Amino acid sequence: MPLILKCHYAARTLLTALYPCFFTGQKFCALQNTMEPIRTLFERQEPGLTALLPEDLRAIYGGDLRFPSARGGRPYVIGNFVSTLDGVVSYEIPGQSGGGDISGFNEGDRFIMGLLRASADAVIVGAGTLHEVNPKHLWAAEYVYREGAEWYARYRGDILHKPQYPINVIASGSGRLDLSRAVFRTPGLRTVIVTTREGAEHLAAAGAAALTSTEVRVIQNSGSRLTAAAIVAMLAREFDVKLLLHEGGPILFGSFVAQGLVDEFFVTIAPQLAGRNQGSPRPGMLAGVEFLPGTAPWLEALSVKQQGDHLYLRYRKRTSSAE
Ligand SMILES: NC(=O)c1ccc[n+]([C@@H]2O[C@H](COP(=O)([O-])OP(=O)(O)OC[C@H]3O[C@@H](n4cnc5c(N)ncnc54)[C@H](OP(=O)(O)O)[C@@H]3O)[C@@H](O)[C@H]2O)c1
Repeated sequence: MPLILKCHYAARTLLTALYPCFFTGQKFCALQNTMEPIRTLFERQEPGLTALLPEDLRAIYGGDLRFPSARGGRPYVIGNFVSTLDGVVSYEIPGQSGGGDISGFNEGDRFIMGLLRASADAVIVGAGTLHEVNPKHLWAAEYVYREGAEWYARYRGDILHKPQYPINVIASGSGRLDLSRAVFRTPGLRTVIVTTREGAEHLAAAGAAALTSTEVRVIQNSGSRLTAAAIVAMLAREFDVKLLLHEGGPILFGSFVAQGLVDEFFVTIAPQLAGRNQGSPRPGMLAGVEFLPGTAPWLEALSVKQQGDHLYLRYRKRTSSAE
């Protein structure tokens, strides 16, 4: 090997050993250096799976992330919530009701939320959750963890071959939505409002037909409540959604869980206690559904991760052999 080439390789090896970021991307290393690592405390071994996440994201997440294929004419559905240790997901105080107030705007929680959004074909939320967020918010990875934008985009584009944004799905029985929000009018973002016939009439009167990136779908319903099974079947059939991320809130999530439609639960436990009053109890992850000891769904742990005092739990619905 010519001397000059030898010197080049020697210098490169030395620089990489001294400054690991030198040839691998300054920004990624900056992220790794500033963010406290997410540690995997437990992970269920799934035989025969090869790594999917790129190395940089795997390093931050403390492992890989894969999902089973969609089955039975509906997407694989994953839920994501952050809860206090005593099970509260919203303070229900104007301006302080969001997940950020529950997690303490925890970086690891935002990183995982971004990773799940980057993985999904579509993200669904209920109208109550929509009303709580900033009017400019989109349900896309970089809107919850801006620092990871480049890595999410590479993972989504180069590995998953999915479009820039997941489809944003908003559930509202009444159709009373503020159509000036960015989610309904951002070029390149496909948004679907799922609603009742009355809701669709209300949306039409409010000018929804003029929105080029937003579509309205009428879904089978009972009163003002849409049937969760009909929502997921429509998303699979008409929008080819194979992985659906459910970001709540509790009323919409409750209807999905009640119908056995949530396959996995990503739950961040924030190390704080919110408490509840008897008169107006603060909500937990599920509202509008109540199981009995004999019928309550049981789950199995897939992983337990930790950053500082926050825990990141991943559970899967136990399946009977008949499913
Ligand atoms: N900690 C967390 O991780 C987390 C996650 C999400 C939300 N949250 C918080 O939870 C609170 C909102 O709770 P929420 O239970 O009211 O939220 P939600 O489920 O997002 O919103 C409820 C509204 O969504 C529509 N909706 C829900 N299920 C429906 C169904 N099956 N069919 C038709 N429409 C349906 C209805 O809208 P219409 O009235 O228009 O019919 C309903 O009034 C907020 O404070 C939010 O920040 C916390």
